[in-house]
Amino acid sequence: MGLWSKKSIALLQAEASGESHEATLRRALSATNLTLLGIGAIIGAGIFVLTGTAAANYAGPAIVLSFILAGTGCLFAGLCYAEFASMIPIAGSAYTYSYATLGEFIAWIIGWDLVLEYLFGAATVSVGWSGYFVSFMRSIGVDLPMEWTQAPFAYSAAEGLSRTGAILNIPAIFLIAVLTTLLVVGVRESAGFNNIVVAIKVAIIFLVIGFGFMFVNTDNWSPFIPPNTGEFGQFGWSGIVRGAGVIFFAYIGFDAVSTAAQEAKNPQRDMPIGILGSLAFCTILYILMSLVMTGLVPYTQLNVPDPVYVALAAAGPGLSWLTKLISIGAMAGLASVVLVMLMGQPRIFYSMARDGLLPAVFGKVHPRFQTPYITTIVTGVIAAAVAGLFPIGVLGELVSIGTLLAFVIVCAGIWVLRVKSPELPRPFKTPLVPLVPILGILICGYLMSSLPGDTWLRLIIWMAIGLVIYFAYSVRKSRFAGAPPTR
Ligand code: ALA
Repeated sequence: MGLWSKKSIALLQAEASGESHEATLRRALSATNLTLLGIGAIIGAGIFVLTGTAAANYAGPAIVLSFILAGTGCLFAGLCYAEFASMIPIAGSAYTYSYATLGEFIAWIIGWDLVLEYLFGAATVSVGWSGYFVSFMRSIGVDLPMEWTQAPFAYSAAEGLSRTGAILNIPAIFLIAVLTTLLVVGVRESAGFNNIVVAIKVAIIFLVIGFGFMFVNTDNWSPFIPPNTGEFGQFGWSGIVRGAGVIFFAYIGFDAVSTAAQEAKNPQRDMPIGILGSLAFCTILYILMSLVMTGLVPYTQLNVPDPVYVALAAAGPGLSWLTKLISIGAMAGLASVVLVMLMGQPRIFYSMARDGLLPAVFGKVHPRFQTPYITTIVTGVIAAAVAGLFPIGVLGELVSIGTLLAFVIVCAGIWVLRVKSPELPRPFKTPLVPLVPILGILICGYLMSSLPGDTWLRLIIWMAIGLVIYFAYSVRKSRFAGAPPTR
């Protein structure tokens, strides 16, 4: 019973309308806010950092095809998210959807898994932000000491964890502290800040695309798919797939829109707009951006932490003014990703606490700010500790594999619910069910399989810790323990 008990859609919808709780979250977000939140969460380290590595090592100019492949997987998952988010418009995203369809145990697994996406995602991207911040400060003549701007640990597959000589990554901690404070103060204030930052980063990306295309040397695009070196994943078609596994990170975030469902003014209509609109917009930008980057320089030169800068610098003095703007665009881009991730995580903890799976204090809403302030602060403190201590490499792939697992479960959930409860009102319907969910599961599963063995191992360890907590605490405290709701 308990393990597989489900939360009825009727109950969820009552919670969504605020009938069942005293202090509720504030419905303050419009369709535009939600779409901009999505864009805020999506464009970040993926395009500003990983595209170069993936093009140089795996796909060459065909990284464009990797973006199309990963984008297609995300589209299928996004369509499933849109159906759920419009049908069950309450905080908690995939966790809540699983509770309604697959039962409490799977919901716990997904809730725990989402910590990898949101909390670890925020930590990862803030480490990337710190790198850009340091080089920006250097460009204006301020040299920050390495001891206080890098992680004390480094990781390599051969040597495992080793000391770097640094003490703490203070800029990464600082960013998380500022954004956490903003998130406690209000969702409207946070969305307002996000809108400004998104405007800056999108404007700079438009400039890169517009001016970059003028300097493209089409010779750099041939061969468009460099021949495979004989090893799986190094160029050729397998390289495109491996590249897609790496740049998948660039798409993470459109689903974060669904965590704000309980704060949307008109979630039934606006959730699908926010999720699918932000995904479509960013997919187009990514395809154009990767064409420009691989057109400006031979792809072999892009294996650097700042590939956009390198590509523009290669265009000569004509674009040197634009190279100066890149670090500002990247800093804005990465900051908004961290903001939306730090916003998503507490709302998932909040939902889990409301259901009894986490201590009730996590479900507290601030009487004046109407934000889940306890979980926001707890998330910020843990994310800051992770960001201060660990390097980006260890974190990034873990974030991707955790997110892909969530996408697979959401696709499966849409299919299950269509079979079990076909009569439920669905303001947005995923087309071609079960084809779209099945394709979503296959593509996301395939991308998961392209990630390395130690990333899988970390996922398994993380999940094992989650199971211990579930059986030691949550299963006994669940609001629905032993007696599934009948409504
Ligand atoms: N999609 C986000 C980024 O690329 C996570 O930074």
